[in-house]
Amino acid sequence: MATTQVLITPEALKASQHSERSPDPCIAVIFGASGDLTKRKLLPALYHLEQAGNLPENFAVVGVARRPLEQSFATDMKEGIESGGGVDATEVKLNPFVDRICYHAMNFDDPSGYDALKELLTQVDGKFGTQGNRLFYLATAPEYFSDIIRFLGEHGMAQPDESSGSEVRKPWIRIIIEKPFGHDLESAKLLNDEVNKVFHEDQIFRIDHYLGKETVQNILVFRFANGIFENVWNRNYIDHIEITAAEAIGIEGRGPFYESAGALRDVMQNHVMELLSFVAMEPPVSFGASAVRAEKMKVYRAIKPIHFADTVRGQYGPEMVDGKPVRGYREEDRVHPRSQTETYAALRVEIENWRWAGVPIYLRAGKRMAKRVTEITIQFKQPPLLLFKDNHGKGAEGIKSNIISMRIQPDEGIALRFEAKVPGPSMNISPVDMDFCYSKAFGVSSANGYERLLLDAMLGDATLFAHRDGVEATWALMTPILQYWAKNPIKDFPNYAAGTWGPSTGDALMEMDGRKWRKL
Ligand code: BG6
Repeated sequence: MATTQVLITPEALKASQHSERSPDPCIAVIFGASGDLTKRKLLPALYHLEQAGNLPENFAVVGVARRPLEQSFATDMKEGIESGGGVDATEVKLNPFVDRICYHAMNFDDPSGYDALKELLTQVDGKFGTQGNRLFYLATAPEYFSDIIRFLGEHGMAQPDESSGSEVRKPWIRIIIEKPFGHDLESAKLLNDEVNKVFHEDQIFRIDHYLGKETVQNILVFRFANGIFENVWNRNYIDHIEITAAEAIGIEGRGPFYESAGALRDVMQNHVMELLSFVAMEPPVSFGASAVRAEKMKVYRAIKPIHFADTVRGQYGPEMVDGKPVRGYREEDRVHPRSQTETYAALRVEIENWRWAGVPIYLRAGKRMAKRVTEITIQFKQPPLLLFKDNHGKGAEGIKSNIISMRIQPDEGIALRFEAKVPGPSMNISPVDMDFCYSKAFGVSSANGYERLLLDAMLGDATLFAHRDGVEATWALMTPILQYWAKNPIKDFPNYAAGTWGPSTGDALMEMDGRKWRKL
């Protein structure tokens, strides 16, 4: 395996961890503060930002949730940060950060709670010098989104107080909305209407944490900061593309949520479609929000309506995995014993434009698969003349196509597979990999995505967030499939064993085109 020589000095690498721009003082107001996302991802991400010197000095967090937690909230958040690892979380460092976290208990559908919250935020402004700037974060269950948005509007909390701040610097208010953004096209449009009534589009940050991953942003760097790949990045050279988002874990106690979601809504409509847009888009005119979004939209619009015969759904059944019994999906807590929810989805899509016409793209996402791996495979066509077809010992099929594989996670990196001559007197050839591995090259582990996105939202940079049109376009592709699936229940669920690569129908999707999923 080849190693990558990195031409950046350790000093420059360290400096690049520090954002060039510093956000304004602000309060991050997290709705759904008692939830898992806040504890495991959001607070650790904010703490990491602080430790890297990327948070403003005048900063505070207000956690909002229904349960009266008060004191235990800070302790709980501390635990979340400590268990995340990867950063110095000794008391000396952690305590000053935790001291800036407040808690507010209220019911999200109770208007009086918003008056009290408004008052609390003014007090926090006074105490921490946060100057009226607010970053609201909706990390609640999606059924509360509409109420919170409406009440923020009705209580005068959605638009900044124009009379405050200085002439040059008016306070700002932004809102980050967690996924799922709607559960089909109609509900996504409705939610967009509701939020656009109260907030301007440039205040809204629809988050997809995949876009915060270094490896996902690197897709654009790989394609557009290098001169050699873009020339072959099209239908003339590429045979097909595969995107796999496989998880080894199950639904982790999220039965009620997952029952109403399923793999298509939970991962395919957002994470996988975002990956696809980055792989397939034309070069944007700049790396700015509107230029990138415009190119993503062109990709979504060019995707042909997906034929039902090109869709596969699966659900895991019980199995022994690594010597331990794993429950089937239908046996999970708060899951219907005859549930029709898919824990695996695969699609074959085509993009009808000059770059991609005729190149099949295979997408799959699933829980309880053989291992955790998110990877994009670009498989190239074979050379026009198989000069060495007899030098492989196995005939023409033995010659492998070139592959660029982008490992989004874990083991982040990019590999290029090509044929090489095996040393020796005979002209034997064999495939080899040229491998770039993030951790080896840069010696830093990639952040979880939330850090970058929280920082961007504080800076008002929406490049890595979804736009109204994009969310609706991906739902427009998924909704007919969801409707068809709902009308046509599957009789043989569960159809794959936990710890495997999904149902045989998923393999058949590629086999009908004479292809196979790449072994990951
Ligand atoms: C979330 C889904 O959006 O992404 C989860 O709701 C999934 O079901 C998770 O497990 C995967 O994210 P990551 O970063 O762990 O790959």
